[in-house]
Amino acid sequence: MKKLLVANLKMNIVSADQRDLYIAGIESRCSDMMACTDVVICPSTIDIYAFEKLGTCGVHIGAQDLAWKEKGAFTGETSPLRLYEYGVRYTIVGHSERRLYYGESDAMIGEKVESAIRNNITPIICVGESAEARRGDHPFEHVREQIIASVSALRSGSELTNLIFAYEPIWAISTNHTVNDPQITANDILSAKVEIMKTLTEIYDRTFASQVRILYGGSVNVENAHEVCIVPEMDGVLVGGASCDPGKFATIAQQLKN
Ligand code: PGA
Repeated sequence: MKKLLVANLKMNIVSADQRDLYIAGIESRCSDMMACTDVVICPSTIDIYAFEKLGTCGVHIGAQDLAWKEKGAFTGETSPLRLYEYGVRYTIVGHSERRLYYGESDAMIGEKVESAIRNNITPIICVGESAEARRGDHPFEHVREQIIASVSALRSGSELTNLIFAYEPIWAISTNHTVNDPQITANDILSAKVEIMKTLTEIYDRTFASQVRILYGGSVNVENAHEVCIVPEMDGVLVGGASCDPGKFATIAQQLKN
């Protein structure tokens, strides 16, 4: 099975010209990328309609977030029904920036996961510990709580087959890995995967847990992608900054090739 490469473009494309240039850059590299990996690109909601055409070369379109209800008085939100209509089949849920800047709680994220599943959109659920938690005695305790809350609204373990978790330690996101930054190692990533599997096995069972795909995210770039991707148990990566350059994104895709 091919690994999964997800681009989180965040709010980094700020004009229609930049967007069109980006789409053209992906289009020209599309067949090479698709030969190596499955690709999901998550642009700003306003640009989703323009990215839809990448579907013809096999790229999946994802949202960066979605509403937990289909319709109603929710100013600023985007209905999952409209996302689906525009070809969105994946969505990031619970990114640490949403948790931090918009106060999204574990309970809200659980609702959003359920909303995504209800609307046939695969949620990519972001979990990860802070730098402070990492220094503590039980670094994964917080991640465990995030996982439990995120699946609490699901009715049965069978829905797990449509879930993707992205382990994104907050301390590793958007760093340039200077000497003062702790660097993520293949071992850290592997232990996180083991903890996530353990938690899902406790809630459901091993069979269901083994069907969930688990990605790593946090400063993945052309230089370190190889190290991250050789962790054989990982199902792929979620890339922020480096995904905004089609050339770098395509190089990362090559490094994910099985
Ligand atoms: P980064 O972002 O690759 O720029 O660290 C990853 C993310 O925040 O999803």
